[in-house]
Amino acid sequence: MSSSQPQAISERAFRHIQTLFAHESGIRLSRAKQGLVASRLHSRLRQLGLADLDSYCELIAGERTNAERNVLVDLLTTHETYFFREPRHFEHLADTVLPSLRDKPVRVWCAAASTGEEAWSAAMTLAMADINSTWEVLGTDISERSLTAAERGLYRTDRLQHMPSSALKQFCLRGKDDFEGAMLINGTLRERVQFCRHNLLDSPRQFGKFDVIFLRNVLIYFEQDMRQKIVERALEALNPGGWLYTGHADSVLDLELSLETVAPSLHRKPLAGTSTMAQRAVRVRASPNRPQKTPEHASGL
Ligand SMILES: C[S@@+](CC[C@H](N)C(=O)[O-])C[C@H]1O[C@@H](n2cnc3c(N)ncnc32)[C@H](O)[C@@H]1O
Repeated sequence: MSSSQPQAISERAFRHIQTLFAHESGIRLSRAKQGLVASRLHSRLRQLGLADLDSYCELIAGERTNAERNVLVDLLTTHETYFFREPRHFEHLADTVLPSLRDKPVRVWCAAASTGEEAWSAAMTLAMADINSTWEVLGTDISERSLTAAERGLYRTDRLQHMPSSALKQFCLRGKDDFEGAMLINGTLRERVQFCRHNLLDSPRQFGKFDVIFLRNVLIYFEQDMRQKIVERALEALNPGGWLYTGHADSVLDLELSLETVAPSLHRKPLAGTSTMAQRAVRVRASPNRPQKTPEHASGL
């Protein structure tokens, strides 16, 4: 049986997990992450009654389904998120994007939605806006456990400090008795918000086109080649003239993209025919020696 402290991880087990995780998620774990891997998987070993990560690797190699692989991906990815994180994107959505779309239907995709706070925040922004159009929000993530929480829409009230009080009043039900200290997203938003599993490395073709894509606080975990692929994939699903929001720590300036960067985390897909001129202009202005964030700089994985 495993001890109460994470054990040192064997070279063989680390390489196995490194390869598996890169294959599943596209994220490459550096050697410096060995301790982090051991500590994040430690309680899973205890739950399964396994002695070490070598036995865990054997279990995964022998399984017929992807169930334990999915658990591994969930445990090794970072799910930090909160309501109305980086609020300027929600202000931009309400003040600039929605008026420009006039009364056309609006589609928003939160492409690394984690436990749902970002998708619900986008939905609240749309529901509070003075528009006549219909709208919908799709939240996707690679982590099944996160998506289950997102769909449930039940959050501890101490996680709501960034939520405007008007949104709290309109869209949240305060829990009582067993649910004291929690709040539930109410039915007004639920019928327009959907969650499903999607890997950012895969084509998003089945989702159709969006006017706005949130791809925030996830690129930071990937190396340049994977970031290139992920943003290209996302852009496949963005309407011409549509907006891409990235996190403040996410970098796209070193990528070759047909994208106009209006502000560091605010990008626009050119309207058909306007080509990549704007992106080129931005790329020239950005210093070629500017250090880019890599997974080494990230606080988690
Ligand atoms: C730090 S959270 C960001 C949540 C939210 N976008 C925000 O800014 O608050 C990063 C999310 O990316 C997800 N993720 C990591 N790799 C992924 C991949 N290859 N495909 C889809 N989601 C991925 C993780 O599961 C995690 O929930």
